[in-house]
Amino acid sequence: MSTFERLLTGWDGQQVAVRYDTEFATWMFIGVHSTCDGRSGGGTRMAVYSAPEDGLADALKLSAAMTRKMAVCNVSMGGGKAVLAVPSLPTGEARVELLHRYGEFIGSLSGLYATAPDMNTSERDMDTIGERTEHVFCKSVEKGGSGSTAPDTAVGVFHGIRASVEHALGRDLDGVRVLVQGLGAVGSRLAHQLSAAGAEVLVSDVNAERVAASGLPAVDPAAVIGTECDVYAPCALGGTITATTVEQLRCRVVAGAANNQLASPDLADRLHERGILYAPDYVINSGGVLHGTGLELLGWDQPRLDQALRGLGDTLLELYADNGRSPVHAAEALVARRRAR
Ligand SMILES: NC(=O)c1ccc[n+]([C@@H]2O[C@H](COP(=O)([O-])OP(=O)(O)OC[C@H]3O[C@@H](n4cnc5c(N)ncnc54)[C@H](O)[C@@H]3O)[C@@H](O)[C@H]2O)c1
Repeated sequence: MSTFERLLTGWDGQQVAVRYDTEFATWMFIGVHSTCDGRSGGGTRMAVYSAPEDGLADALKLSAAMTRKMAVCNVSMGGGKAVLAVPSLPTGEARVELLHRYGEFIGSLSGLYATAPDMNTSERDMDTIGERTEHVFCKSVEKGGSGSTAPDTAVGVFHGIRASVEHALGRDLDGVRVLVQGLGAVGSRLAHQLSAAGAEVLVSDVNAERVAASGLPAVDPAAVIGTECDVYAPCALGGTITATTVEQLRCRVVAGAANNQLASPDLADRLHERGILYAPDYVINSGGVLHGTGLELLGWDQPRLDQALRGLGDTLLELYADNGRSPVHAAEALVARRRAR
């Protein structure tokens, strides 16, 4: 079976739109995993891949996670995700031109997919895309959007960690040791919020400047998995929990912002067998969806959004009620119920 066949036959989504831009040697993949009221939504990831099919694989997998997030957030949209597989990250005029072309591609889908920021795309990039299509969330506030999702994603993860610690350890965050992996837009904010709440925060990033700027004790990136802590918070890349690393973890809770933290779904059960509480990623990191859809679609103000972000902790506690198996099963059941409705 070709990679193309394997990827598409192994995906339960609705459709994929593909464009290749010759001048920029860039593949554009838009994965529409599901629609609700005819729409799907999710971010655009810009990255260098060793092969275009790796970009397609990312778009497909991430779009499925977006469907789950939309359901968790009870939003009338399905999940979508886009990937711009670039030969190198463009800057200046070239970036603007590429994003304009990409905006026209989104526009050609007539609202089937609406985009937002993701890895290597910012609210400024959304402003640029927005010069070619209206189907864009999280443009800058000056351009009429709701701005970056990262601060509210961090707040949602903070509430999720607090709830997870309450369930697994029966205590508040004071003195709890949390290892935050990845000090980007989400992880850096999260680390400081946890620290302010009294947690003992350890940080790790491949970018030494970010570690130094945090002023927090550092863990070597290669040593993160085996480091003893109460909570491991993956906030860098997905897929850090593999069949190998799941056996090496020395924590009681896995709860962080990264998408697709488990390299394969069965690892949720292995975490449970090992007595490690896993906060399903698409629940704990859905604060960004609440931010974009709450402020731009549902007319929420910040207090209403803050309430919804706190609610992510309550949702997790409900999922944890069944102690007999991984919370992923309860999360999948919640998604199925909401999608059926
Ligand atoms: N930004 C959001 O609103 C949002 C929403 C949901 C999920 N997420 C996910 O959360 C994660 C973090 O998002 P972000 O916006 O902060 O991304 P970011 O790109 O701003 O930050 C990622 C950080 O991880 C670091 N990193 C990369 N590889 C690493 C490694 N091996 N070890 C340690 N650090 C490493 C990078 O140097 C960078 O500082 C991503 O997986 C993203 O998909 C983000």
